[in-house]
Amino acid sequence: MSTDSKEAEQALTEQVVASFAGTPDERLRTLMQSLVRHMHAFVREVEPTEAEWMSAIRFLTDTGKMCDDLVRQEFILLSDTLGVSMLVDAINHRLATGATDTTVFGPFYIRGMPERAYGENIAFTPGTPALVHGRVLSTDGEPLANAVLDVWQTAENGMYSGQDTEQPHGNLRGRFRTDAEGRYAISTIVPVSYPIPTDGPVGRMLEATGRHPWRPAHLHFMIDAPGHRTLVTHVFDREDPYLGSDAVFGVKPSLMVDYRECPADHELARRFGFDGPFREARYDFILDRS
Ligand code: BEZ
Ligand code: FE
Repeated sequence: MSTDSKEAEQALTEQVVASFAGTPDERLRTLMQSLVRHMHAFVREVEPTEAEWMSAIRFLTDTGKMCDDLVRQEFILLSDTLGVSMLVDAINHRLATGATDTTVFGPFYIRGMPERAYGENIAFTPGTPALVHGRVLSTDGEPLANAVLDVWQTAENGMYSGQDTEQPHGNLRGRFRTDAEGRYAISTIVPVSYPIPTDGPVGRMLEATGRHPWRPAHLHFMIDAPGHRTLVTHVFDREDPYLGSDAVFGVKPSLMVDYRECPADHELARRFGFDGPFREARYDFILDRS
């Protein structure tokens, strides 16, 4: 390429960057100028053909068309599968304070799910019965009473209620509150690994690049307590085969838990109403003060 062409290309980048120089909001100016520099650098590096660029635009158009207000958000899925969601999460939770690690929110949360009593069952579809329990604490060890734990997980078919319209309303979802000692207890089923949706552009991208769509089995938590930062995280099954290759890069070693086998005559069975063998997972959450 001639020196003239190279200079003209560089001048174009500088001209576009300069066009944002008058942006009144300083943060917006920084974001736009950096975006232009990085996008131009990407284009300069890969030198797309015009057909490739059109296919990239078509891909993003299809991604936008697969978004709705409730249960399908293909842009979140794209951000997740490119590791951008976890990078944003890491940057926003950099300080090592002793609080529980955070992870991706994902696109399947539904607000306003029913309030559940201590130890109440949330599984209205079959599975291996499980008790998930523990405490919510502040970083100084103080138990947090009245913390709200919003939980969600898939059914054994790997789908969330809402996403799968056949499941009863609120299946495997609910809002639990801690008691005076900061304890919570959830009767549920052992979570299963499941594939993220592959019927859209993100699925096509995974297929074309030889990546699998599986997430290791987990239970989602969003925990709120007065005076504390909201905690968005998962608890993963330590036995899951996909822990090392999560399609959305959300696994952290501190978030793994054992689902121990308990016999039908276990003392917890009587207390929580299990009428056969079940699994028990114990996990304490630690919240940062806000
Ligand atoms: C989830 O765990 O629900 C999830 C997270 C990221 C992408 C898709 C699903
Ligand atoms: Fe999930």
